[in-house]
Amino acid sequence: MLEVSKSGFGDYQCNNAMSLFPRIRESATNLGNPNAVGQRIHDMLIHGIESWAPILPAKRVVLDFSSPNIAKEMHVGHTRSTIIGDTLARIFEFANIEVLRRNHVGGWGTQFGMLIQFLFEKFPNGEEAANQAIGDLQGFYRNAKKEFDENPDFKGRAQQAVVCLQRGEDRYLAAWKSICQISRNEFDLVYKRLNVKLEEKGESFYSPYIPRVLEELTSKGLITECKGARVIDGRKPPLIVVKRDGGFNYASTDLSALWYRLNVEMAEWIIYVTDVGQQQHFHSFFSAARMAGWLPDQKEEKYPRASHVGFGFVLGTDGLRFRTRSSDGAVRLVDLLDEAKSQSLAQLIKRLTENGQIANWTDEQLDKTSEAIGYGAVKYADLKNNRLTDYKFSYEQMLSDKGNTAVYLQYAHARICSIIQKSNKDVEELKMTESITLGHPDERSLGLHLIQFAEVVEQACDDLLPHRLCDYLYTLSDRFSQFYTNCQVVGSPEETSRLLLCQATAIVMRQFFHLLGITPVHKL
Ligand code: ARG
Repeated sequence: MLEVSKSGFGDYQCNNAMSLFPRIRESATNLGNPNAVGQRIHDMLIHGIESWAPILPAKRVVLDFSSPNIAKEMHVGHTRSTIIGDTLARIFEFANIEVLRRNHVGGWGTQFGMLIQFLFEKFPNGEEAANQAIGDLQGFYRNAKKEFDENPDFKGRAQQAVVCLQRGEDRYLAAWKSICQISRNEFDLVYKRLNVKLEEKGESFYSPYIPRVLEELTSKGLITECKGARVIDGRKPPLIVVKRDGGFNYASTDLSALWYRLNVEMAEWIIYVTDVGQQQHFHSFFSAARMAGWLPDQKEEKYPRASHVGFGFVLGTDGLRFRTRSSDGAVRLVDLLDEAKSQSLAQLIKRLTENGQIANWTDEQLDKTSEAIGYGAVKYADLKNNRLTDYKFSYEQMLSDKGNTAVYLQYAHARICSIIQKSNKDVEELKMTESITLGHPDERSLGLHLIQFAEVVEQACDDLLPHRLCDYLYTLSDRFSQFYTNCQVVGSPEETSRLLLCQATAIVMRQFFHLLGITPVHKL
């Protein structure tokens, strides 16, 4: 993209020169200096992997992800959103973009009236007992829901309770707060295991903004009456922003949150990660925002920009939609994650026992390693497919050490670490005096793949498809194997150059693990 320079340096400036650079350099390389690829890799070793970070025009991004609903169970769809959202956040952060990680938790609605009323009726004065009862929030929710569906009188009282809550009555607010806290504690168990950071700014945060936002939209002539409800008539079906009973809804909250993110948080790009089932909702309120002039017409300018990152369902090994609830009760998401860890621990112990290594491992090392492998396997299984497709949740598949799995890649990485270690050379010192020469075709093929790093990251920043990183990583370990099979490293005349190539491969692998939220293991 060429533009008249605003900076006063020369007549024209090329804004994406930085991103074009590696590509130009790569093709120039093959014609001219045969060692330019080796030189580029060597530069990275000297200046760090950060020197390969892509440079992007946006400065601040809001990433709205995870976002379970308070007082309801967090389901596998929310885990998917958490995993995909965290990876996107990490990619942007690596590109030096400020990321506001937002947990848009649901909940200021009828379900609260139902829960609070149920709580008051079942435990008229026992706070202790009440806290215990809602400790099992899912069970408590089920019972309250049953009462709500079956008993019209209760339903009426529950609706009344919503009004008291929205009016801010103390007793109701206090009950609401303790229910939220219990929910939050449960969500945090999952975030802790996945090592994901999020800041909660839930639906209720935006409710004070709804009236003025709707006023603005009304004054712009966008809101009309339709069968007693107020709607924005842009796409079909029209977007309901005020329900017939006068209440606000998901869409009015999302419009207000978007307004806030654009005008108060000054974000240039707002990204929402949910299942594809919500695509229609996002597209209709994005189009309302365009009609209001909040977002540019897609074709004209790139920013500010809003994107929906949709993903498919998680399926069980039977090919049906994965349920966290089995016939004998609820399976908690944390238990699901912990199962991956304990299966990977069993696998590790078995392997180390078979190869006689088990005595060299402390319990703590076993624990940390199986955690990195187990949770990493769950994340990788989710991220490696195009996010729009459904994927099967299978421990057997994700924990296999063959094929495109995190376990396979962890082994590949650990092997490179051990090659370097066994050489007894200090690569940090070597890199200061030695260079990289890619003489063998398998060295060149590995080297050319390494320098595509920035391009892949940049592409993922643009189309928001994390599986690109997995594809890259899998091909990288393939090229490395090829290289290692055909090129002797330790003891060869090319030893130093090849050790540096090993080191660069390990660094790139670790950076990708980091972007995927996976903890690399150095010894296996
Ligand atoms: N709480 C919603 C759900 O569980 C997801 C919220 C997504 N974010 C948003 N701004 N609408 O489906």
